[in-house]
Amino acid sequence: MNNPTILVTGASGKLGRETLDFLLASGKDPARIIAATRDVTKLADYAEKGVNVRHADFNAPETLGPAFEGADRVAIISTDAVFPGVDRVAQHSAAVSAAKAAGARHIIYTSMPAPETSLISFAGDHLGSEKAVKESGLDYTILRNTWYQENLLMSLPQALEHGMLMSAAGQGKLSYIAHEDCARALAAALLAETDGNAIYTLVGSEGHTIEDVAALAREFSGKPLAVQHVDSATLRKTLEGAGLPPFLVDMLVSTDDNIRAGNFDIVNDDFERLTGRTPKPLRAFFEDNRQALSS
Ligand SMILES: NC(=O)c1ccc[n+]([C@@H]2O[C@H](COP(=O)([O-])OP(=O)(O)OC[C@H]3O[C@@H](n4cnc5c(N)ncnc54)[C@H](OP(=O)(O)O)[C@@H]3O)[C@@H](O)[C@H]2O)c1
Repeated sequence: MNNPTILVTGASGKLGRETLDFLLASGKDPARIIAATRDVTKLADYAEKGVNVRHADFNAPETLGPAFEGADRVAIISTDAVFPGVDRVAQHSAAVSAAKAAGARHIIYTSMPAPETSLISFAGDHLGSEKAVKESGLDYTILRNTWYQENLLMSLPQALEHGMLMSAAGQGKLSYIAHEDCARALAAALLAETDGNAIYTLVGSEGHTIEDVAALAREFSGKPLAVQHVDSATLRKTLEGAGLPPFLVDMLVSTDDNIRAGNFDIVNDDFERLTGRTPKPLRAFFEDNRQALSS
């Protein structure tokens, strides 16, 4: 189909906004872009640019029919509801059903690497959601985004303050991807105008151990940082002792377990095949964030 109408859910989130920016920068007609969000006021700047901003909440399926009306290609950005009491599979399944009912031809879903075998605490959410996408009968593109480089900014500033980074990841590697690259890939998948099904595992260009990460943090912050290697049980006890909620402890410990098991040690050309570019290296991310790490 020529010039399809494309839709992004969760459009006011960081990935959503960056994706809208890539779509607009590509020259896509804003009148053929639908930005769906729980809070339309957050996207007033995009409405001003001519983008159709519509209300959509996966927890309120009655909002989804009107929101998805006229969309040919629908990107479902997985929600951030990783805390207890929310069924993400139900949320994403509601979006898949609504896209189908609205007559969409193609669904794009943001998942995570190898949810079938992953040790990550919420892998089941993505596995169940991928299943719903595949069973919809619509064509699909699944983008299995690995962990963002930006996630490091959640732990490194505090670790640099104490000069110590606790890890149960052992010598396992993770090929972090830039948040911006995930948006670039999502925009490319939306604009592709292809039929059929595809799964892309989106990773950075190189795997890094926690020692590699610490070395970059030392180099760009100018501060000392040692890695304290511990086992999972010790990491869990430390995080619990720091008062973190159980779901977050599970997420952080299972991330290190998954790295240690080698499940994040993935390097491929999926990003390049989809976007025609090479992913941003982790070193460039550190260069961009020198200020945040050294202050
Ligand atoms: N790979 C990684 O390292 C990594 C890290 C963090 C998160 N993630 C996943 O990637 C997603 C996008 O990342 P991000 O950086 O853009 O996260 P973010 O800025 O925290 O955005 C959260 C997203 O969840 C959406 N959302 C929450 N509840 C919803 C609901 N009831 N119905 C519809 N949408 C809902 C929000 O949409 P609106 O507010 O616009 O409705 C927004 O798009 C996250 O939500 C999470 O699933 C991946």
